[in-house]
Amino acid sequence: MDLTHRPRRLRQDRVRGLVSETSLAPADLIAPVFVDATTHERVPIESMPGHERVPTGEIVARVEEILETGVEAVMLFGIPTSKDPEGTRAWADDGVVQEALRRITSETDAYVITDVCLCEYTDHGHCGPLEEELRGESAVAEAGPACEPTTTVDNDATLAALEKIVTSHARAGADMVAPSGMMDGMVGIIRDALDREGFEHVPIMSYAAKYESAFYGPFRDAADGAPAFGNRRHYQMDPANSREALREVRLDAEQGADVMMVKPALPYLDIVSAVRREFDHPVAAYNVSGEYAMLHAAAEKGWLELEEVAAESLLSIKRAGADLILTYFAEDVAARL
Ligand code: PBG
Repeated sequence: MDLTHRPRRLRQDRVRGLVSETSLAPADLIAPVFVDATTHERVPIESMPGHERVPTGEIVARVEEILETGVEAVMLFGIPTSKDPEGTRAWADDGVVQEALRRITSETDAYVITDVCLCEYTDHGHCGPLEEELRGESAVAEAGPACEPTTTVDNDATLAALEKIVTSHARAGADMVAPSGMMDGMVGIIRDALDREGFEHVPIMSYAAKYESAFYGPFRDAADGAPAFGNRRHYQMDPANSREALREVRLDAEQGADVMMVKPALPYLDIVSAVRREFDHPVAAYNVSGEYAMLHAAAEKGWLELEEVAAESLLSIKRAGADLILTYFAEDVAARL
């Protein structure tokens, strides 16, 4: 055969590495950690094998385990001692995340990013205080689980809460803040609040294109943040839309976001790729709890080889254009690199 083009030439073992276009490094990965003020022992999260809710007293040990694998950054999620309609424990000076931040930053070199949202702190589980007509227990009870109000969360009242949360996180030592509530104007108000308090050096990683996704199921068990009624479709994005994602990213760019996140990752690689092409900002992708649980469940059945599919998933997310990846596989994959 007289074949001019034989792409297989470059697939031979000793040359593959030289021509490989994408690589994965522990420094690209961010490990999510759940810190729980309601427990004194580590509590395994059933739907996320290998992950636990960690008490404040264990948080330094937990972060050290992560650092040992070569991963340098963690994303903190908090489970507070109590919840209320406004989510006031989210900005308490002695709040669970604030306490964990002080311990981690004084005892380790981890780069600590905080998830900035209210859903783990409100008793109704939504990402901010509710609109007037839904306030009060009786209103929520009346609305019931099937409640489909046209709006749920009071956008502008939530912004005021976010200001208080980010400044309390920054004071406690947060290296970066990551607002995840999909409120309009959240990045701008957070940038102003940080700058006003002398935290101009603290970057914002915006959950810029965050979809209303069924892949968050296991996380809501882990962080105890499921909405008590209705759903999040009035603030998170419609999975049907991609142009809207670019608009969201553009608005966050105008408001000063430093890193743009797309979430979830695997079912939304087209969005990761589009954001990469259209913007110069670093792009983050969140390989969410459902993506993790899915692979574990199949591996448990013996249908997939876990280490292989995990590494391939993360490599694919990078190939699509992500610079950094938030993933529950961070430690396992980093340890093998
Ligand atoms: C909080 C938040 C959620 C996740 C990250 N931050 C839950 C949600 O929006 O319902 C999901 C993460 C995951 O599934 O791994 N707003």
